[in-house]
Amino acid sequence: MLQNTIVLNKKYLDDEQLDRKEQFEVLKEIFDVNVRSKEISELSSHFAPMFKDGHPVHLSLLGKTGTGKTVTILYFLNMLKALCAKNKIQVKYIHLDLSIPKPCFRALNDLACLLNATKRYKRGISLDELMSRIEDKLKPFTGYFILFVDEIDHVRRDPDSFLKFLIRRLPQSVRLKLVVIFTSNKLNWQENIDPRIKSFLKLNEILFDPYNALDLEKILSIRIGKALDKKMIERGVVKKISAISSRTHGDARKAVELLSKSAHIAERRGTGITLDLVDKALQEIEQDKYVAMIKSAPGQLQAVLYSVLSFSGTKPVNTSDSYDVYCSFCAQAKTRALTQRAFSDMISELDIYGFIKTRIVSQGRYGRKKEITTSLPKEVSDRLKEIILLEFDLEILNNPELK
Ligand SMILES: Nc1ncnc2c1ncn2[C@@H]1O[C@H](COP(=O)(O)OP(=O)(O)O)[C@@H](O)[C@H]1O
Ligand SMILES: [Mg+2]
Repeated sequence: MLQNTIVLNKKYLDDEQLDRKEQFEVLKEIFDVNVRSKEISELSSHFAPMFKDGHPVHLSLLGKTGTGKTVTILYFLNMLKALCAKNKIQVKYIHLDLSIPKPCFRALNDLACLLNATKRYKRGISLDELMSRIEDKLKPFTGYFILFVDEIDHVRRDPDSFLKFLIRRLPQSVRLKLVVIFTSNKLNWQENIDPRIKSFLKLNEILFDPYNALDLEKILSIRIGKALDKKMIERGVVKKISAISSRTHGDARKAVELLSKSAHIAERRGTGITLDLVDKALQEIEQDKYVAMIKSAPGQLQAVLYSVLSFSGTKPVNTSDSYDVYCSFCAQAKTRALTQRAFSDMISELDIYGFIKTRIVSQGRYGRKKEITTSLPKEVSDRLKEIILLEFDLEILNNPELK
């Protein structure tokens, strides 16, 4: 493993593990402008009035995750700031990162901190006072103030107050020219806003399309140049990753993750990154996702999943058969079994998470029954069973029915 180094510079592969600031330092160097040039030129024309003393309206950037909204805007704002400095235009921008959902108070508190209007987190002051502090801090400023609210739909509890402050109250109490940039993964984030606020919200929208294979190829190639030993990558690997990623999601973050997973597997096995390893990596990512999900699930849900997965094969299973297995599982794990009704609810929940599929089948005058099928690959389902047994401290179930 020591001799087989493919990853030369890890930080260019795990940008999710760096904090936002570090992430941006790293990304600034490898952000591919060409693949977002349409969006950047739309942004440029949106902000152009600033150079004629005009006041651009607010902006909403929409698009799925990993389409580069955050990196593009941060890149653009940095450029804009430099250009303004050259033209002696006063501008300030703030990135309010709401990628972790939080209530209105917390979000405003974050904003206040970014503005140095409060030191650290303030507890026990009223929302109104928090707002006043932000206003006081901004009062002396007369230039353009660009507030980048990243993932606006994550303002939980009282998003209306949050918007009302930004859109109505703040502009009335300060002299600066406020431009808010909202981003969201949800196209309809404005749908549930109080109509009285909505009517004040004049927005220009820019849509970020998912990356196509060509874009992803460019993004990945830059990444490879920075992070990996090129000699260790078989021809066609980048094309393959780009093709898979553009077909399934067009998310650059996930494409980079697939590249990084492939590199790590290759290092572990002492080989280069081959086309086959990409498939292997894809499988592992998928598996990790299910494993993480089931590990954090409540015990009963795990037991229910075990009972369904213990029927090998692709034949549909009906609820009452799997309920029997579930009951013997609970007996051995020494936990109380749920009623069949509650069991059935759990089955529906597993369906929502994508572990299994259920279908209601009519049996004529014998009523209806629920049929369950699992579509997980065998390795994944075996791994899940293993984990669930471990969680319940069971070695192997000594019931012939449960194999
Ligand atoms: N044009 C690009 N050049 C290089 N990397 C990119 C580009 N666009 C996106 N990425 C990668 O994808 C990840 C997700 O981008 P991000 O801007 O956070 O997406 P969004 O905010 O739309 O969810 C980034 O961390 C970066 O790794
Ligand atoms: Mg983002």
